[in-house]
Amino acid sequence: MVYQLIYYSRNTVDGSDREMLTNLREILAKSQHNNSRDGITGYLIFDKTWFIQILEGDRDAVTTTYQRIATDPRHSSASILNTRDVKDRLFPNWTMAGALRTPEMQEVYLEHGIGGAIDPTRLTSDQVVRLALDLHQFEQNKRLRHAS
Ligand SMILES: Cc1cc2nc3c(=O)[nH]c(=O)nc-3n(C[C@H](O)[C@H](O)[C@H](O)COP(=O)(O)O)c2cc1C
Repeated sequence: MVYQLIYYSRNTVDGSDREMLTNLREILAKSQHNNSRDGITGYLIFDKTWFIQILEGDRDAVTTTYQRIATDPRHSSASILNTRDVKDRLFPNWTMAGALRTPEMQEVYLEHGIGGAIDPTRLTSDQVVRLALDLHQFEQNKRLRHAS
């Protein structure tokens, strides 16, 4: 079994879109480094106001990582949405994937009933999982289009 933890938190780092993107890239780079060491995979949704993250791996590793993340001053009020044991990883090949919400992704958000601002307090963990999988798929398809 794989332990899965989903939480949301409020971004505390203000700035331009470019600065937001830089912020996210720094977080992802560090996450990928640490998570590959710790056997953690997952996805980070960032809509500029909120972070919503899926962490999956061994229970101890996920718990330790979450405790470290929760004290990071780049966000505040981290709240766990759900923890559970699941059979398989959702993102087995991604030590931490993620994307900044951009206008081109609007269609994906809309498909999930999110037209305006995200309200993570009203999301279920299953909705988060489906949104993350679709956002990830969207990004992957974009990469393929650009590569061909
Ligand atoms: C929204 C958010 C998500 C993060 N996700 C991860 C993560 O998945 N793994 C991780 O190791 N650090 C993550 N971090 C960074 C940690 O808070 C912390 O800065 C980092 O783990 C410290 O690593 P170090 O002790 O190697 O410097 C995240 C930070 C933020 C703000």
